[in-house]
Amino acid sequence: MPHPPTLLAVSAGFGVFVVLEALYALLVRLGQRPRTAWTYHLWVLAIACTTTLTLRDDLGSQAWRLSASVAALLTAVVTVSLVDSLLIQRPWAPTKGPALPKLALDVLRAVAVVATGLLVARSILDYPLPAVLVSSTVLSAVVGLALQDVLKNVFAGMALELEKPFSRGDWLLLDGSPVQVLDTSWRSVRLRSNEGVEFWEPNANLSTSRLVNYGSGVSPVALNFHVGLPYEAPPAQVKRVLESAARSIPGRLDSHPPTAFVDHYEESSIDYKLRVWTQDVAGLSQFKDSVYSRIWYELSRRNLHVPYPVRTVQLQRTPTDRGVQRERKARDHRRLLKSLALFRDLEKETIDRIANSARRVPYDDGEILFREGDSGDSLFVVAEGKVLVSKSGHNLGTGEIPLASLGAGDFFGEMSLLTGEPRSATVRADGPCDVLVLAQRHLAPLLEEQPELAEVLSRAVVERQARTEATVEDRRDRTATEDLAEGSEHSILGKIRTFFKLAHD
Ligand code: CMP
Repeated sequence: MPHPPTLLAVSAGFGVFVVLEALYALLVRLGQRPRTAWTYHLWVLAIACTTTLTLRDDLGSQAWRLSASVAALLTAVVTVSLVDSLLIQRPWAPTKGPALPKLALDVLRAVAVVATGLLVARSILDYPLPAVLVSSTVLSAVVGLALQDVLKNVFAGMALELEKPFSRGDWLLLDGSPVQVLDTSWRSVRLRSNEGVEFWEPNANLSTSRLVNYGSGVSPVALNFHVGLPYEAPPAQVKRVLESAARSIPGRLDSHPPTAFVDHYEESSIDYKLRVWTQDVAGLSQFKDSVYSRIWYELSRRNLHVPYPVRTVQLQRTPTDRGVQRERKARDHRRLLKSLALFRDLEKETIDRIANSARRVPYDDGEILFREGDSGDSLFVVAEGKVLVSKSGHNLGTGEIPLASLGAGDFFGEMSLLTGEPRSATVRADGPCDVLVLAQRHLAPLLEEQPELAEVLSRAVVERQARTEATVEDRRDRTATEDLAEGSEHSILGKIRTFFKLAHD
């Protein structure tokens, strides 16, 4: 038969147990279960035991000390856990996310446990405070020294969490190379380079260095490209050329036109800055490559060259050198023109005349030589590489209609040259290519002198026009058949839906 006070104490302990477990059930029902359930149940048990032992007047006994110490430490853990679920996680506005970063919460939990530990040592276990403080200070100093680097990174990590200079998925510029943020942790930030290599950058390095964040591709960013160009070229013309080079670059934003500025004067050149906008932050290296390549092609076509130091430029501009270069070019053009069926029957002198007046122009992959509807009065011959001829399918409600792929030795542009009509198709480079451009003013006298040349060209016009019409007609038929098939599919679908009483779109 138990002693009445003991029975009372056990009943009170049991009562506390039941009340706290009921509170737990209520929290679970409200969807606010404390993060670590087993800690909560252990805490309830410790509180119930301590209540029983306290009421039994066992204060100061070994069992009471043990139970009260465990209860106090668990109270600290459970309190932080409840503050986390009920306040920090903002259950009333879950979309907003937690009010404090995880790192800060972990530190709060550690501080609460250490402070409670000191209190338990002093008040329950009766250690003298100075001894506790001295031992804890010595311990902190030893741990602090040993973990100096780790702690530096932990505090830097907390600063980064609070300041949030970047988020997961953002692209940062690290040591000049773009890297993507994958994850953040106590010690470091996990990053992935464009080469697919993952690495961990210590938080301290990131928090002390200058961070450049390009974002995750949602907002547009502008990149600046610097080019030095000769003093002789008027800035207005150079800016136009640079802006036009940037216009056809894949990945450029149409909503933000490229802009060029004079940046500063160099010793032997004017430094221009071209600003181009993109959202493709994941492909910055390819984007830079496209812009710099296009600038080179555009400058080369406009005869604008990045100047060498002044002395070298003067040496290269001697008349003999220029003469030698011109002669070498003309020889190359002659060799190419002679090999073409188009000019096979022409006299040597005539070919020489055409070769001297031709210009060899380079284009980068995808660049447009001219568009359908442009005005044009020159004939082109593919010297190297390939070009694609296509026509807009806008009228038929489809995309581009490919007409032909022309390779080395093929000519194009004869229709506008002979008829004066706008260009009948768009021609774009299919890979890097070089073309010879023969202007109308040089060809006109030849067409009069050599009527066979005009005949070959006009035969080509007729043949190509017929082929283009056949291709367009074929596309029209195919589109009509597809529309018909789609229409009947919809109507059969409609009948099935009506028959089975299904909802219509
Ligand atoms: P032009 O109209 O001056 O400009 C577009 C050029 O594309 C045209 O001259 C022809 O040289 C070329 N072209 C048009 N249609 C075809 C075709 N079906 N096959 C090959 N080349 C073509």
